[in-house]
Amino acid sequence: MITYEQAREKLAAAGQEHALQYWDELTKEEREALLSQIGALDFSMIHYVKDRDELPARGKITPLGAMELSEIEEKKEHFKELGLAAIRQGKVAAVLLAGGMGTRLGSDNPKCMYDIGITHPVFIMQRLIENTMDVVREAGCFIPFYIMTSEKNHDATVSFMKEHNYFGYDPEKIRFFTQDMAPAVDYDGKVYMEEKYRIASSPNGNGGWFTSMAKAGLVDELKKNGVEWLNCFAVDNVLQRIADPVFVGAVLDRKAASGAKVVRKVSPDEKVGAMCLEDGKPSIVEYYDMTPELLSAKNEKGDPAYNFGVILNYLFREADLEKVMNEKLMLHIVEKKIPYMAPDGTHVKPEKPNGYKFEQLILDMVHEMDSCLPFEVDREKEFAPIKNRTGIDSVESARALCGKCGIVL
Ligand code: UTP
Repeated sequence: MITYEQAREKLAAAGQEHALQYWDELTKEEREALLSQIGALDFSMIHYVKDRDELPARGKITPLGAMELSEIEEKKEHFKELGLAAIRQGKVAAVLLAGGMGTRLGSDNPKCMYDIGITHPVFIMQRLIENTMDVVREAGCFIPFYIMTSEKNHDATVSFMKEHNYFGYDPEKIRFFTQDMAPAVDYDGKVYMEEKYRIASSPNGNGGWFTSMAKAGLVDELKKNGVEWLNCFAVDNVLQRIADPVFVGAVLDRKAASGAKVVRKVSPDEKVGAMCLEDGKPSIVEYYDMTPELLSAKNEKGDPAYNFGVILNYLFREADLEKVMNEKLMLHIVEKKIPYMAPDGTHVKPEKPNGYKFEQLILDMVHEMDSCLPFEVDREKEFAPIKNRTGIDSVESARALCGKCGIVL
């Protein structure tokens, strides 16, 4: 653990000395907790709140075509064979990104514990494991299954899985690892205090997953076991196919460096990131960065040129991830509601945004890859995200889509 002096120096370098303002009032345990948090947190990005023009600008965006459903259907058996062979050789692992806070869903439990059942309990995690089991049965072997949590939801996630006997998955094939946290600041770039002995912090976005995996010693394990491809996916899409052999096979067949499952957007301004090229390299343009020109651009078929949205289901090559691990990913400074402790000691849960969180995103990793195959999936069959309680991308809409796919809830 760092000393008080080291903590003071680290904070001073980032203009955050106020985090030690209650030091004299703290117990021994509280002091230790604060020092250990200061030791672990990275404050180096906070200055970008003031120096945003130092963040890299976006490159030139041009279209990137997808492998569409008709082509996939034609070559499905061939792709599937290739993918299943890679899975049977132990070359493919699944990585569930479950470190998010799920604030929009508004449950205190980790999102994976949310019950979407109607007549009987069906937990989000259960759906993900059941989807993976389809491939396990087809391939005749379990797929290494990594789960990223955050310090806020780790213990609850691990005990939930244990309690439910891993929903029938082989526990030997499951590994948990925890992602890093990032400080949360006010509009002047000063960290909020959550308690007198605790800086307000939250998970640092889903982009740090591979670095966190490496820190946990799991990249060594991947290499030892000959895993070459990692299929990363979000916790909230209860219809997604995991380690989908057809997707894996298509990426292998195309000799692409990575792959991204995409859906045809319902309208050019749908709120999903769209696959594109940025300065000639694969990339994803966020919906809020779509200019009127990009929104109205057409391809040679007359379709919208940025017609395919990502669904957070990617395939990356382990060796490429190691190569780019130390490259700085784009930093996202996101306005959020940050609960904090006011100077009078009361705890405030703000109704409106009151500052910034810092995140790195997995979608920016795609830009580090030499190529990426956008692989179209039928959104009615593979895209049922649960972000909100009601309305768009909600428990209600996901239940309806599950029903259409014959899943009894
Ligand atoms: P979202 O962008 O939906 O964020 O995450 P969230 O934190 O889950 O939900 P809100 O915005 O607070 O309502 C997309 C995926 O990335 C994971 C989430 O668990 C989800 O699978 N994620 C997100 C992480 O693993 N870590 C993070 O720091 C953020």
